[in-house]
Amino acid sequence: MLYGGSRSGKTFLLTHALIVRAAKVPGTRHLIVRHRFAHVKSSIWYQTLPDVLKINGIKATENKSDWFMTLPNGSEIWVGGLDDKERVEKILGNEYSTVYFNEVSQIGYDSITVGLTRLAEKSTLINRAYYDCNPPSPLHWAHKLFIEKVDPKGGEPLAKPELYAHMLMNPHDNAENLPDDYIENVLATLPERARRRFLLGEWVKAEGVIYEGFSDSHIVTREEIPPIERHVVGLDFGLNTAAVLVGFAGDNIYVIDDHGTYNATASAFNAEIWERWGNYDIVYCDPAGGERIQEIAYGDKANNSVDPGIDNINAAIDGGRFFVCEDAHGVLSEIYDYRRDDKERVVKENDHFMDAMRYGIFSEAQYGEVLAGYVEI
Ligand SMILES: Nc1ncnc2c1ncn2[C@@H]1O[C@H](COP(=O)(O)OP(=O)(O)OP(=O)(O)O)[C@@H](O)[C@H]1O
Ligand SMILES: [Mg+2]
Repeated sequence: MLYGGSRSGKTFLLTHALIVRAAKVPGTRHLIVRHRFAHVKSSIWYQTLPDVLKINGIKATENKSDWFMTLPNGSEIWVGGLDDKERVEKILGNEYSTVYFNEVSQIGYDSITVGLTRLAEKSTLINRAYYDCNPPSPLHWAHKLFIEKVDPKGGEPLAKPELYAHMLMNPHDNAENLPDDYIENVLATLPERARRRFLLGEWVKAEGVIYEGFSDSHIVTREEIPPIERHVVGLDFGLNTAAVLVGFAGDNIYVIDDHGTYNATASAFNAEIWERWGNYDIVYCDPAGGERIQEIAYGDKANNSVDPGIDNINAAIDGGRFFVCEDAHGVLSEIYDYRRDDKERVVKENDHFMDAMRYGIFSEAQYGEVLAGYVEI
């Protein structure tokens, strides 16, 4: 993984390495993925790839219906987004020698684990996964995996830490390819946290953080959670399906655990959460889930009012009534980066567990008392 400040040459270097591998062994396949297809298209397909091919003197032919390039030796470079179901099926139908996850601050760990299963092409190359990012918060899975060398889900030390290498690259290292005033007049003048992230490449909390009052002091162990009166689950459908188990004890709210998958059916996901948690009282589901809600045992439509839902959780945080168990790795990997942009819109990135958590907590606050009368406990 290359991480660090803005415009430091991370993407250029990894794309170059990927092209060298493709050029070296004929007929191999390589994939560059990003959170959104529109972004991989504008930044990689139309900018970095042509630049890198040019300096290597390689002419590739383009296929713009399936979005791959073929090098003269028959090797293929595919690009894809993780946000588009149909293309994801197609991309994941192939096997690759290199999978490069571009800007992983925006990608959930569940998608990474699925993407890695496709790193299975047999050739003389040693298969490799590349990653890059502007560092998000230190609780992001990429920090756990590459810097702390622990499993992002379970927290145990990695069995083979030597497989996970990282390097910091900052814009100063790439000064010769940047406009003269970019570092001094643009990056150095950013607000404090953005400057640390984009100039110095430090892992810091984002700006505009939504649950600003949340801190490590709200994280509890499983043993510290008191007897729970009611268990509810919040569930967010999508290519990334995420569920969060929430317990209520008096006025206190405990986020007990979470579970996510990438590209699974609703019924398979239902079986997984039932096996993990069973016996919850209700599952508040993303109302956009449509018919999928019927596949979920005890499923009901969640209240999806975003701002009131966020306010409700913030009130609990400020009131000292909100706790997250250390086992809830998905929630903890998103909560410090969940933020608004400069137009005050919630940034829809790496937010699946945040949505699921809000569905569970706010819907319960809205309907819980009415439902408690007739849902079997
Ligand atoms: N070795 C190189 N030769 C020529 N140009 C380069 C080289 N490395 C990087 N560049 C140029 O520097 C600029 C920044 O590079 P790149 O996009 O790889 O940075 P990055 O670290 O991925 O930035 P971001 O954090 O914005 O994703 C680009 O215009 C790229 O073409
Ligand atoms: Mg980049």
